[in-house]
Amino acid sequence: MPYAHITGWGMAVPDKIMTNDDISKLVDTNDAWIRDRTGIGERHIAGENESTATLALTASINALKVANLRPTDIDLIICSSSSPDFIFPATACLVQDQLGATKAGAFDLLAACSGFIYATNMAAQAIRSGSIKNALVIGSETLSRFVNWSDRNTCILFGDGAGAFVLQASERPGGVYSAVMHSDGSGGDLLTIQGGGSKHPATEATIQQGKHFIEMDGKEVFRFATRVMAQATREALDAAGMVLDDIDWIIPHQANIRIIEAAARGLKMPMDKFVVNLEKYGNTSTASIPIAAVEAIEKGQIKSGDKLVLVGFGAGLTWGALTAEWTGPFPSKGHVHPEQYRIFGRVRSFVRRTIRFIEGIIFRREL
Ligand code: ACO
Repeated sequence: MPYAHITGWGMAVPDKIMTNDDISKLVDTNDAWIRDRTGIGERHIAGENESTATLALTASINALKVANLRPTDIDLIICSSSSPDFIFPATACLVQDQLGATKAGAFDLLAACSGFIYATNMAAQAIRSGSIKNALVIGSETLSRFVNWSDRNTCILFGDGAGAFVLQASERPGGVYSAVMHSDGSGGDLLTIQGGGSKHPATEATIQQGKHFIEMDGKEVFRFATRVMAQATREALDAAGMVLDDIDWIIPHQANIRIIEAAARGLKMPMDKFVVNLEKYGNTSTASIPIAAVEAIEKGQIKSGDKLVLVGFGAGLTWGALTAEWTGPFPSKGHVHPEQYRIFGRVRSFVRRTIRFIEGIIFRREL
């Protein structure tokens, strides 16, 4: 059975930074409270021309460059997001088109902040089964578009960004070893965006009631999170036949430093084994784990051969953990330039639309 190695990684965040002081101009809060209660100092916020798909695309190109892989080599694209560009088409399809990933199947996955773990596991399973060879897994969010900027309970927490992994098949042991995925829909009401779906389609009334904003019972989510992080980590380790001492790094969902500290206490692991960067990005939901991983690799913190646990929780409720051995890119001859395929992708997209338009004229006459 082939192994699913993580051979590429990339991230993207918007240029615009919003500090705690900036938020204190919008709601009754202050830098000291936010840092003390969450660990967050600032977050990146998408500009007018940015969206979940544009961030996902940049992160994906960066990941393909590291893997030295052409977009046309990708068999599957999974984009995890709770803030997709549209209900449909899937953001994964927008990325597929813009990348020029002509061979790839593409779909979105919604498991909130646990989504990147779910998506990486799904892609790894497809590789392990032998049905595909190369996958692109993306976590991308622009939750700032769904934040109520007059609700101090939520607007201090979230930021925008994207992270991506390339997964590739190899007979060499390594890559994703195990994963556990859990859910408890009885806690679905603790963290919601209610408007705009089929239950509450967008109307003037839903907008007036603020149903298109994130609503959260912070205390309950906090209690749930502190309970499941250590538990899921242990389950994933058991499934891989590993113990905590085997692990070099834990990369947790970056929601709140106090949740990460509680997980460290629960596991009796020192905090310096945890990759933490939420001070700079806030909670970027499903993008937080890959962004933390990419930063840690680029800083030289995570090295080839290191064993990792990725662990997260989120709306749904969902939670999960994944163990992996970090092996780095496969050796390859020559350099491919995935960004050049973007131009090819745009041209191809334009040609396809034109053909569809011409076919429409011809076949309409025949109908
Ligand atoms: N600034 C200043 N004061 C505040 C703020 C704020 N932004 N927010 C709340 N307060 C006040 C409250 O009004 C309260 O005052 P009171 O005692 O006079 O009533 C006091 O501070 C304490 O409020 P709590 O709600 O108890 O604050 P808490 O310490 O629980 O922190 C927080 C709130 C940060 C939201 C925390 O509960 C948390 O992080 N929860 C988990 C949230 C989370 O991780 N969500 C993401 C899930 S991932 C996903 O799926 C998207």
